[in-house]
Amino acid sequence: MAGVMLKNLTRAFNKVTAVNSINLEIYDKEFMVLVGPSGCGKTTTLRMIAGLEEATSGEIWIGDNVVNDVSPKDRDIAMVFQNYALYPHMSVYDNMSFGLKLKKIPSGSNLPLLNMKKAFSSDEIDRRVQEAAEMLGLKPLLQRKPKELSGGQRQRVALGRAIVREPKVFLMDEPLSNLDAKLRVQTRAELIKLHRRLGITTVYVTHDQVEAMTMGDRIAVMSNGIIQQCDTPLHLYHHPANLFVAGFIGSPAMNFVPVQVKQSGNSIFVETAGFQVELADEHRDIAAPYVNKTCMFGIRPEDIYDLALPGLVVAEKGNTITVDVDVIEPLGSNVEMHLKTGDYTLIAMIDSATKAAQGTDMQVVLDMKKAHLFDKETEQALF
Ligand SMILES: Nc1ncnc2c1ncn2[C@@H]1O[C@H](COP(=O)(O)OP(=O)(O)OP(=O)(O)O)[C@@H](O)[C@H]1O
Ligand SMILES: [Mg+2]
Repeated sequence: MAGVMLKNLTRAFNKVTAVNSINLEIYDKEFMVLVGPSGCGKTTTLRMIAGLEEATSGEIWIGDNVVNDVSPKDRDIAMVFQNYALYPHMSVYDNMSFGLKLKKIPSGSNLPLLNMKKAFSSDEIDRRVQEAAEMLGLKPLLQRKPKELSGGQRQRVALGRAIVREPKVFLMDEPLSNLDAKLRVQTRAELIKLHRRLGITTVYVTHDQVEAMTMGDRIAVMSNGIIQQCDTPLHLYHHPANLFVAGFIGSPAMNFVPVQVKQSGNSIFVETAGFQVELADEHRDIAAPYVNKTCMFGIRPEDIYDLALPGLVVAEKGNTITVDVDVIEPLGSNVEMHLKTGDYTLIAMIDSATKAAQGTDMQVVLDMKKAHLFDKETEQALF
């Protein structure tokens, strides 16, 4: 078992700095998700941890050791790739055991030198394969060839191949992206259970924020080679550090409206054409230095309520606005609405009991305690 630590880790390719001086501590047994848009440096980070990509500068620690100069096979990690390739002519059993047959006994074991290059005993290999197959529900399939398996089953074989190595650290690069939506959700749950059972430190890469939110103990949100914020899923959701994280975590995404901050007596308002709301008491002092400045206001679709429906948020003059209902998309328990206010469209997730109709006015209540304000220049969250 081991944690992983990245210290000022950088990887530059000619003109592109794919990973730009990131610092990240992944605790022993933790499930850490790296999430971010295409090209933000997730795979490059993972490949540096695996030793498949050399760091331009910075340090990679696994457990108590700096591993920058340790070859990939001696890092005691197992990587599952997006495009896992199984050997088509080999059975499931052989695909899973193949790596163990090649693997040399780890140095540091007190076997005689002559045996150092010998593979694991066939009993040991069988124990590991049977155990992994049991865990992954592959036992009845061990003698089949990959072409006789479904996509999900093949994916599990690729996982099994990594599990039998009993590594200190698992690295997974979008391992579910080849599966259809239903199988993805199912395999996601299996992976979480597996992690609970094995307790192996895992770094999991995805560009899907829902996957990140449901799987990660913690999530590191990356963009442009930089870690924007690293925290638990709920902390990222409730307290995004900046505009990028606020817009990336949560689906549908947070609404942003550029606003003027105004003071009137003891109250602080944010306003733009057709839109004026009062900040919650607890946000007043934080916003005070921004009075008469432009900021970015943020409110999540699920923090907007139909005034006509009984809700948890008490409607007041300062938190209620009138909007035009532009589009209504029924989703089942909720409807997604596009609400026009002045020059802006707010997306709202409204209880499907709503009677609001397309093309009419509607009054909505904003849960201002959950609202966010961002500095326009630095893009950092004030709250
Ligand atoms: N071998 C390479 N040579 C040059 N540039 C590279 C190389 N590998 C990656 N890059 C660049 O580094 C940046 C980060 O790439 P990386 O593959 O880490 O992104 P990613 O976050 O995994 O994206 P995706 O979600 O699309 O897989 C990209 O701009 C990419 O074009
Ligand atoms: Mg990638």
